[in-house]
Amino acid sequence: MKIPTAGRNPRDFSTGIGRSPKGFSNEFKLPNREQAIALLEKYRILPNILAHSMQVNRVAVFLAKKLVKSGEKVNLNVVDMASLLHDIAKSRTIIEKRRDIHWVEAEEILTEEGYPELGHICKMHGFSELNKSKNPSWEAKIVCYADSRVMHDRIVTLQERMEDLKKRYKLGDDEPHLVIWKNLETEIFSKLKIKPNDVKKLVENEQS
Ligand SMILES: [Fe+2]
Repeated sequence: MKIPTAGRNPRDFSTGIGRSPKGFSNEFKLPNREQAIALLEKYRILPNILAHSMQVNRVAVFLAKKLVKSGEKVNLNVVDMASLLHDIAKSRTIIEKRRDIHWVEAEEILTEEGYPELGHICKMHGFSELNKSKNPSWEAKIVCYADSRVMHDRIVTLQERMEDLKKRYKLGDDEPHLVIWKNLETEIFSKLKIKPNDVKKLVENEQS
């Protein structure tokens, strides 16, 4: 399967070793982009999930770079790899028609593959997982929020994505995961000069 490279050098950001987000040891192992792509293929990523993951990757890396520019400590390598791999288990649960806890399985897969810390960050994009952590890292928060801005493979507003999720899963406005998303949007954009609605245009401009 041919994997697109988000219009940039596939080796961008991926050095193999990540500096530690808060709460982790000083250094932990990260795959490079080729290794990440091999993992996605190994776990039978479906084309639509791949397209979604690539778009989440673009949004996440875009926001991470903006946050770094505004003085926040964010590890771009970690954001790059976690956003690319966050749905690594989703295709498997769809193909095997199993209960969808793909975020938990993502952690299991990446731990087995030798990337436990990265797996933990991927797990935190799942339903309400961020609420279980006292002090989640920027990397986990960025990946979770970027996922909220991509519906299938399209960058949308948070509102649009929430409406879709509410319909699909019959959720109320007070669903904790939706509250997490809203709070993340407030927190992230309180640090930036751009507005949430600027993201789509700016990310798409980067690609052209
Ligand atoms: Fe996702």
